[in-house]
Amino acid sequence: MKFARVKPLDAILATAKKKSLHPTLGWFQLTLFGIGCVIGTGIFVLTSAGAQKAGPGLMLAFAIAGLICIVAALCYAEIAAMIPVAGSAYTYTYSVMGELLAWTVGWALVLEYAVAASAVSVGWSGYFTGTILNEFFGITLPTYLTAGPVWLGGAPGGLINLPAIVIALLVTWLLMIGTSESAKVNAVLVAIKVTALTAFIILTLPKADMANFNPFLPAGVFGGFGSGIGAVGAAATIFFAYVGFDAVSTAAEETKNPQVNVPIGLIGSLGICTVFYILVAAGAVGTIGGQPILGPNGIPFPAGSEELARQCALPQYADMLVCSNEALAHVLREIGFSAVGNMLGIAAFVALPSVILILLFGQTRIFFVMARDGLLPEGLSKIHPKWKTPYVVTAITGGIVAFAAAFLPVGQLADIANAGTLYAFMMVAIAVMMLRKTDPNRERLFRTPMLWLVGPATIAGCIFLFLNLPLEAMLVLPAWGAIGLVIYYLYGYKASHLGKGIVEIPEDDPGVVSH
Ligand code: ALA
Repeated sequence: MKFARVKPLDAILATAKKKSLHPTLGWFQLTLFGIGCVIGTGIFVLTSAGAQKAGPGLMLAFAIAGLICIVAALCYAEIAAMIPVAGSAYTYTYSVMGELLAWTVGWALVLEYAVAASAVSVGWSGYFTGTILNEFFGITLPTYLTAGPVWLGGAPGGLINLPAIVIALLVTWLLMIGTSESAKVNAVLVAIKVTALTAFIILTLPKADMANFNPFLPAGVFGGFGSGIGAVGAAATIFFAYVGFDAVSTAAEETKNPQVNVPIGLIGSLGICTVFYILVAAGAVGTIGGQPILGPNGIPFPAGSEELARQCALPQYADMLVCSNEALAHVLREIGFSAVGNMLGIAAFVALPSVILILLFGQTRIFFVMARDGLLPEGLSKIHPKWKTPYVVTAITGGIVAFAAAFLPVGQLADIANAGTLYAFMMVAIAVMMLRKTDPNRERLFRTPMLWLVGPATIAGCIFLFLNLPLEAMLVLPAWGAIGLVIYYLYGYKASHLGKGIVEIPEDDPGVVSH
C-alpha cells in the first residue's frame, strides 16, 4: 500500500525540463537567498524564548540546532540537485515513497511554511509596536490590540495582535498582485540584516561579563521529553531560526548548474547563520544576562505560557531578556546604545516582511504543485487573468496565516512550525537513503558525504528535537496529520491524477512567480 502510487522520477524530471523558467541564479545569489529566508524572527525575537528555556545554554542550543540543520542540508542538497523541481520535500517523497506519504509531507509543510509565516508576523509586530510606534512616535497601542489573550500565552489584557494581522494580509496582497522579491531586493535586505547582527555582535561582545554565563545551564541540558526546557528544549524552539534554508532547494529550477550551486547555497547560508547566531546569543546573554524566570519549584516557567506572561507583566521582570518582544533591540538599549538599538529595530521592521513573503510564497507553490497532482482541488491553483498568480490559494493561505498570528504567541507558533518542518526533514533524509538503494545508477552530481552516517544522524536529530518540543506542539503534528489523512481519503485518493493513471507532464506553471 505504502509504495503504491510512486510518481516515476523520470516523469518528474521531464516536468522540470519542460519548464521555461530561465535559470538565472548562481551560487552567490543562492547563498544570499538562503540567508534572506533564514535570518528573521528566530534570532531577532525567539532569543527571548530560547533564554527562558535554557538560560546562557542558549548558545549551545543554537549549536545543536545548527548542527542538525547542516546534516539535513547535506541530504537536501543531494536530492534537490537530483530532482530540481518545485514542491521540495513533497515532490521528493512522491517519487520515492509514494503518494500517501508525499501527501503527509505536503500537509506537514503547511505547518512549516504557513504557521512559520504567522510566527514571523507576530515577531514583526513586536518590533513594529516597540521600535516604530513606541520609540519613534511615542505611541503605545493598548495591549488588547498587540497580543493574544493571556490564556493562550499572550499578555494580561491581550485580545488580538492587530499589527501581525495587518502585515500578514499586506504580504498576502503583495503576493496576490504578483510581487516577487527580486534577487536585488533580497541582497539589500540580507545586507541590512547582516549589518544589524554584526553591529550587535561588535557592540555587545566586548561588554560581556563572564558572570552572566553562570549558571550556564540553569535548566540542564535535557529537561525531559515534552517539557520544552533545557538546552535541547531551547534547541527545539530556536531550530525555527534556521527554518527556510530548504527554500533554496525550491529555487533549484531557476538555478544555473544546480548540481553544484544548490549544495553551496544550502550549506553556505546555513553555516554563516550558525556562526552569527551563536555570537549574537553570546552577546545578548553576556551583557544583560539571560537567566530564565523560575517557578516555585525551581523550573523555568514554560515560554509562551500564561504564567510567564503574568510574571513578565510585573515591573521587576519587565527588563529581562526573557520578557522582551524585541530581544536584540532591547539588549542594545539596556547597555546604552539606544540609537543603534532603534536602528536594529528598523532593520527587523524592514527585513522581516520579506521572510513572511518567502514563506507564504513557498506555501502557495507547494499547494500549487499538490493541486496540479490532483491531490487538492484544481480550483485552488486557478491563475488570476491579470495578476498571473495563483490568487485563490494565496488568499486562503494568507487568511489562515493572519488568523493564527492574531491570537497565538510567537514561541508557540514557532514550535508548531518546527514540528512540521522536522517531519519533512526526516522524510527527505529517508528519501535520499532509499534512492541510493533503488536508483543507484542515476547521476548524482552532489553526493551527500558519508550518507550512512549523515542520513541516520539527520533522522535521529529530527526525532530528538521533535521529542524535545513542548508536548502541545508535538501533539499538533499527529492531530494535523489525522485531519490530512481524512481529507486525503475523502478527496485526494480518488482525485489523484496518478491514481487515475495520468502521469502528465504539465505545461509551464503560468503565473507562479519565480524568485
Ligand atoms: N528562519 C526564519 C526566521 O527565523 C523563519 O524568521
